[in-house]
Parts: sequence; C-alpha cells; structure tokens
Amino acid sequence: MIRDNGVARKGLGMDAEIRRWGGESVLLSYDDPTGSFMVIAIHSTRLGPAAGGTRLKTYPGAEDAVRDACDLAEAMTLKMAAARLPMGGGKSVLAVPRTDLPPEARRLLLHHHARNLEMLGGRYWTGPDMNTSSADMDVIRERTRYAFGASAAAGGSGSSAPDTAVGVFEGIRASLEATYGDPKLAGRRVLVQGCGAVGDPLVRMLHAEGASVVVSDVVFDRVEGLYDELDVEVVAPSSVLATECDVYAPCAMGGVIGAADVPHLRCAIVAGAANNPLRDRHGDADRLAAHGIRYAPDFVINGGGAIHLIGHETLGWTRAQVEQAVRGIGDTLREVYARADADGVSTEEAAERLAAARLAGG
Ligand code: NAI
Ligand code: PHE
Repeated sequence: MIRDNGVARKGLGMDAEIRRWGGESVLLSYDDPTGSFMVIAIHSTRLGPAAGGTRLKTYPGAEDAVRDACDLAEAMTLKMAAARLPMGGGKSVLAVPRTDLPPEARRLLLHHHARNLEMLGGRYWTGPDMNTSSADMDVIRERTRYAFGASAAAGGSGSSAPDTAVGVFEGIRASLEATYGDPKLAGRRVLVQGCGAVGDPLVRMLHAEGASVVVSDVVFDRVEGLYDELDVEVVAPSSVLATECDVYAPCAMGGVIGAADVPHLRCAIVAGAANNPLRDRHGDADRLAAHGIRYAPDFVINGGGAIHLIGHETLGWTRAQVEQAVRGIGDTLREVYARADADGVSTEEAAERLAAARLAGG
C-alpha cells in the first residue's frame, strides 16, 4: 500500500481510498458552525476496542482528511500490536479551516466530536494528538468517557508526551547499539527536529547522557530556551535533512522523508517520535536501508504514549509497570533489527511482520 501522509500524492477518490485501506469503518461528519469535516477511522478492533488520538489540522479537502485518518488509524493498529496492548487501531481527524479557532468554537467542535464518540459506544477511544492536549480531552470528557489523557483533575492520566520521549530515548540507545555496537550517547551527535511536548524532554535526556544535541523548530522560542539553558546547537528548519549527525530524530510532523531526500541524508540512524515520517513507508524504508541508514519504525519507537494512556487508564498499571513497559521499547527494537538482519528485509517490514504475528495471536 502507498502511504504518503497527504503530502505528495493526488487522491484516488474517496471510494478507492477506503477500498485499498482495508479497515473496519469510517465515520465522516460535518460541523457547520466551524466548517470542519470530522473523521473517525477505525482500522481494527481485532485486539480490543480501537484507540488513537484526535488530530486537529487544516487539509486541502475532506478526502485528504479521510486518507490521513485512515493511514494513521492503520499505524495505531500496528502500534498496539507491537506494544502488546489489548487495543485496536483508530484515529480521529478534525479538519478545521484554521487551527486557531476561537475558544468557544473549539469547545463546541470538541463537544460535537464527543457526541460522535458516544454514538460509537466505546468501539473507539480517543486521546491527544497533533494540536490537541489534555485540556481538550477534559472538554471531550464533559460529554463522554471515551477519551484518554485528560488531566488528573478530570480523572485522566495527563500528558502522554513525557513517556513517549522516554520510549524514543530507549529506542535511540537500541539503535546506536545495533549500529555501532554501543548504546552510549556520550560523544554522539543527535538532531531533534521539533522541540514540543515530546522533543523538549527528549533533548534534556540526551543532553544529560552526554550527547551533543542539535535542535530545530519553526517556533524560535522553543529552541531559544534550550539554547540558553543547555547550550545546544541550533539549525534552521530548512537545514535539518542536510545536517550531519549520528541520529536524526523527527519529532514534529509526518512525511518528512521522501524518495528524493534519502540520498541527501547525512545521518546513520532515523529514530524519532513523529507518526508516519516516511511518505512511502515501504519504499522509503527500502531506500534508507539501501543507503545504509538504520530506520526505527515509528509505530514501535513512539509507542510510549499509548503505553502510558492505556497502561494507566484501562490496565490499572502502577507507575513502575508503565515505566517498565515504556523502557521495553528498546528491547522490541532490538528484536526488530535482529529479524530484519535474519530475514534480509527492511526494519519496517520486520516490524510489520512482528505486529502481524501478534495480531494473529503469536
Ligand atoms: P507538539 O505539537 O507538542 O510539538 C511539535 C513541535 O514541532 C512544535 O514545537 C512545532 O513548532 C515543531 N514543528 C512543526 N513544524 C516543524 C518543522 N517544519 N521543523 C521543525 N519543527 C517543527 O507535538 P508532540 O506531542 O511533541 O508530538 C511530536 C510528534 O510525535 C508528532 O508527529 C506526534 O504525532 C508524534 N507522537 C506524539 C505522541 C505524544 O504522546 N505526544 C505519541 C506518539 C507520537
Ligand atoms: N496520539 C498519540 C499516539 O499516536 C497518543 C495516543 C495513543 C492517543 C493511544 C490515543 C491513544 O501514539
């Protein structure tokens, strides 16, 4: 299947998109007051009710929003299986005409979304994602219980981002070990693209372990603070792909690496939090491997947020159990790398085979 995160491909048409996807259901509705299309894609409930965040974003059209929701929902199915969580994969997209909606309009849109979740009766649980936070989950929880990641005051487990960062950190260590025979960060140069909720704590962990950290963000304040405090190096967003480093950690938007970019990358490893960083997940993974660049599949390395939300809110895990599972992401990646070597396939293919085996009950 082609997956390009709505970046480079012309739409196939809504019917063809849904046919090639192979998921279970797509709920499409329209919020008249804000002019937003709203999508809830449920890819699989094979392992349990579907779960995946709510993404608030501007798209060229409804078809692009549907495609993004479907692709992201499929990635959630793989993420849950790879993390051995008893949930399926789903995703919501609120395709807003502008992301800075007035607060009351945003609130009513979230209530509309909550009514849709309620209508699904627990087949799908949402949570925070790009441009939505615990505060938005608090608003959704005013109308339905099917939202993870609300604040502690509203009965939730709070932001998933710090645990996502811990999982990415462990994934970077495992990737260094597989590449250089040593997981140590000291002396390694790591570039973090996007210093938001996940990127910021990741930068701090890497710096504390002695890595030489390079940061980039389109919001200058985010890198300025890190520069003043930790003395990290800063590169312009347009220079990220051409910057020489041991590890490139995409922690901003998806679709950052396409076929034309791979020959110009100057890193040994791609390992970050961003969902769907490859425009064509199989083709680009093959191209990265052909160029000797190790790729940590997104749905394995960024599973810490899902583990945090589901561990705390449905499995009743203690903090220590959640932390142990998040740190286990490093071991899952080691298994993926060993299988990729043994089977002579890309790390993406190896990770998908691992997830498929778990989906089949293995
Ligand atoms: P965020 O919105 O808090 O941070 C993203 C950062 O990227 C912002 O600081 C933004 O200014 C920056 N950015 C945007 N475009 C950029 C560009 N072209 N170059 C450099 N920086 C740019 O988002 P968050 O929560 O940190 O998530 C980051 C990524 O990780 C997203 O792709 C998200 O889907 C993924 N992810 C997040 C999880 C979580 O628990 N928060 C869990 C799994 C994946
Ligand atoms: N949106 C985050 C992710 O992609 C966190 C999340 C996980 C939200 C599971 C809801 C359910 O992993």
